[in-house]
Amino acid sequence: MERTSLKLSVAIIVVLASGFAYKRCSCAVVQFIFGDSLSDVGNNNYLTKSLARAALPWYGIDFGSGMPNGRFTNGRTAADIVGDKMGLPRPRAFLDPTLDEDTILESGVNYASGGGGILNETASLFIQRFSLYKQIELFQGTREMIKAKIGEAAADKFFTEARYIVALGSNDFINNFLLPVYADSWSYSSTGFVNYLVSTLEAQLRLLHSLGARQLTFLGLGPMGCIPLQRYLTVSGDCQESTNKLAIGFNKAASQLLVNLSSTLPNATFLFGDAYDFFQDMIDRPQVYGFNNSDAPCCSIGNIRPTLTCTPLSTLCKDRSQYVFWDEYHPTDKANELIAKQVMSTLGFKSINDTN
Ligand SMILES: *[C@@H]1O[C@H](CO)[C@@H](O)[C@H](O)[C@H]1NC(C)=O
Ligand SMILES: *[C@@H]1O[C@H](CO)[C@@H](O)[C@H](O)[C@H]1NC(C)=O
Ligand SMILES: *[C@@H]1O[C@H](CO)[C@@H](O)[C@H](O)[C@H]1NC(C)=O
Ligand SMILES: *[C@@H]1O[C@H](CO)[C@@H](O)[C@H](O)[C@H]1NC(C)=O
Repeated sequence: MERTSLKLSVAIIVVLASGFAYKRCSCAVVQFIFGDSLSDVGNNNYLTKSLARAALPWYGIDFGSGMPNGRFTNGRTAADIVGDKMGLPRPRAFLDPTLDEDTILESGVNYASGGGGILNETASLFIQRFSLYKQIELFQGTREMIKAKIGEAAADKFFTEARYIVALGSNDFINNFLLPVYADSWSYSSTGFVNYLVSTLEAQLRLLHSLGARQLTFLGLGPMGCIPLQRYLTVSGDCQESTNKLAIGFNKAASQLLVNLSSTLPNATFLFGDAYDFFQDMIDRPQVYGFNNSDAPCCSIGNIRPTLTCTPLSTLCKDRSQYVFWDEYHPTDKANELIAKQVMSTLGFKSINDTN
């Protein structure tokens, strides 16, 4: 009698324990992030032949220990900040050697890669980077791994409940269409190229939906004609208006695409996160936002501009929180914080813990 009841209680404990483990696995809401250097948290640092890496000081100077961590900024990316504010765990870089099934179930994966574009051919000059198609292919592999670990039904639930961020497109212009060394620059008109980009993006977002993505946010482009590198190319030092027009044209078509997909794909909440006008206003009226400089990079190497990156030989501005741009391409932590807040408020995003 005693033996039976002991066996029974052991059995109950086993059931409870595995039930709890199952619940923990299938109930964690995590993020899968696809993007370029604006969201990279270390992938390119493992791509040792890539020419787009944030592996040297002063990248990361305001993050953790202050050592370079693969982020192309002094502190956090906009995606870091949106996730933090929503109460979601920060996903590790796909190439981080500590990533395994358990860490994926706890915090998702970040596939973003500096130089990555919507098009496979974008930024081929950087030699190594994950294009969006490549990132989705890696995500497919992740899905298979998780399915093998927790079973198909639990995996379906896990991937359906996850949040997806897709944030790229500027490299398709800056490191493709606008550079005459790329065939796309002479094969397409501006409108033709934007259509090519948006139809490729449509196929990619449909593919992600077929792989389980239901809650997805695509982050639109900022005024990329105002990054220090583009200003350098104008005689006056003003923003490159023709480049900004491309971003506006792309954003318009992409936001329509997201609306279309959201209304036609089953159960899809696909949103377009727009901070273009806000970003432009930060550049036009920096003082309003607490900045003192919105045209030069905080980390620069003086007259040898345009350098591709911030380097240990560069000089830093005195107060990093007063600069909109960290290097020739990327915003500072402070600018990212304001952009993230703007995106969240326009989309009505709240912390996952206070949805009731
Ligand atoms: C883009 O690259 C992916 C692999 O990453 C490949 O499967 C796909 O066929 C390529 N697409 C085009 C249009 O080249
Ligand atoms: C969105 O749908 C409208 C109406 O069906 C269509 O005219 C438009 O071309 C679509 N746009 C995109 C970018 O898919
Ligand atoms: C849509 O959601 C409903 C309710 O959760 C579910 O039964 C159905 O299978 C879902 N359909 C797709 C295609 O995801
Ligand atoms: C802004 O920078 C200029 C020099 O570039 C300086 O003269 C001015 O005092 C700064 N203003 C603030 C509020 O820091």
